[in-house]
Amino acid sequence: MEKILEVKNLEVSFHTYAGEVRAVRGINFHIHKGETLAFVGESGSGKTVTAKSIMRLLKAPLAEIKESSSILYKGREVLQMNKTELQDYRGNDVSMIFQDPMTFLNPTMTCGDQIIESFILHQDINKREARQKALEMLNVVRIPDAEKRLDAYPHELSGGMRQRVMIAMALACSPSILVADEPTTALDVTIQAQIMALLNALKVKFDTAILLVTHDLGVVSNFADRIQIMYAGKVLEEGTAMEIFYKPQHPYTWALLKSVPKLSKHNKQELYALKGTPPDLILPLEHCPFAARCEYCMKICRTAMPDRTKITETQYVSCWLKHEKAPVIEPGYKREV
Ligand SMILES: Nc1ncnc2c1ncn2[C@@H]1O[C@H](COP(=O)(O)OP(=O)(O)O)[C@@H](O)[C@H]1O
Ligand code: SF4
Ligand SMILES: [Mg+2]
Repeated sequence: MEKILEVKNLEVSFHTYAGEVRAVRGINFHIHKGETLAFVGESGSGKTVTAKSIMRLLKAPLAEIKESSSILYKGREVLQMNKTELQDYRGNDVSMIFQDPMTFLNPTMTCGDQIIESFILHQDINKREARQKALEMLNVVRIPDAEKRLDAYPHELSGGMRQRVMIAMALACSPSILVADEPTTALDVTIQAQIMALLNALKVKFDTAILLVTHDLGVVSNFADRIQIMYAGKVLEEGTAMEIFYKPQHPYTWALLKSVPKLSKHNKQELYALKGTPPDLILPLEHCPFAARCEYCMKICRTAMPDRTKITETQYVSCWLKHEKAPVIEPGYKREV
């Protein structure tokens, strides 16, 4: 499969008064054409910072992407792109949608004008043609009464409708990758399911790859092809969705899986809640970042960083339990069938 995005050794810091916050600590990943990759991890694990780095949306000098980092889009170095190249790249190649559409949509313009502007910016068409395309796009994202909604302002729409308008704008120029950062977190459960179904349908229709960012492993279960589990700016485990849900290897992945609510009337078990908080990202991390919260923690876990161990061609895990001389333990999570 063709790799359209390849991120190598991404390291991102924020220079704050309290010190250097090392938000992303050397992560590697790639996205294949048309696939869905999900980043899952608790709040503060570096998911949004990674997503924004791909879009080059982080502002220097507060944020710094370290020189050794590389983000290749179809072989081109995104970190070296100039202003014009970036304008072309954002929208035509890679687009992003956010948790809160109101931070992205312009409250002073109608939804229609915003989609039209996005078409005119990226394609060589006139306003009349762009309006026609905007209308088509609102129909594609299944906005009822699209003609009328074209002239509505964002505040006149419900949260779910605004999310659809943002998706329409992001997909207007058929990007190869859509970065969706917690796209359903602010919505209620029914609307959440509708938006996820819509994203899935659009992915097939436009052959768009999706980078889905979420703190909720439950959201990705029917949606992701591959999953990366993030923690304290690192990837602790990665694998296909089948591997992560059926053969998870990392204690943090087990904890996340145990915290996903199960929809069964026979299920009377109390939901598992992971205790403690992630480490302070200002401090150096020379050992397993999960050590302070891990029920399997050994002495070595507090003194040295575990290697990334290959489990299969697609699954990798960073945990001392995978060392050949480590004690063999029962997996901390088993999926009920
Ligand atoms: N503007 C900022 N200034 C300082 N630190 C930041 C800033 N944005 C993010 N961070 C740091 O980066 C870490 C990762 O943030 P983020 O990627 O937003 O997490 P999440 O996984 O919840 O999306 C945060 O815990 C925070 O310490
Ligand atoms: S390396 Fe040690 S502390 Fe870290 S997850 Fe594995 S067992 Fe737990
Ligand atoms: Mg985030």
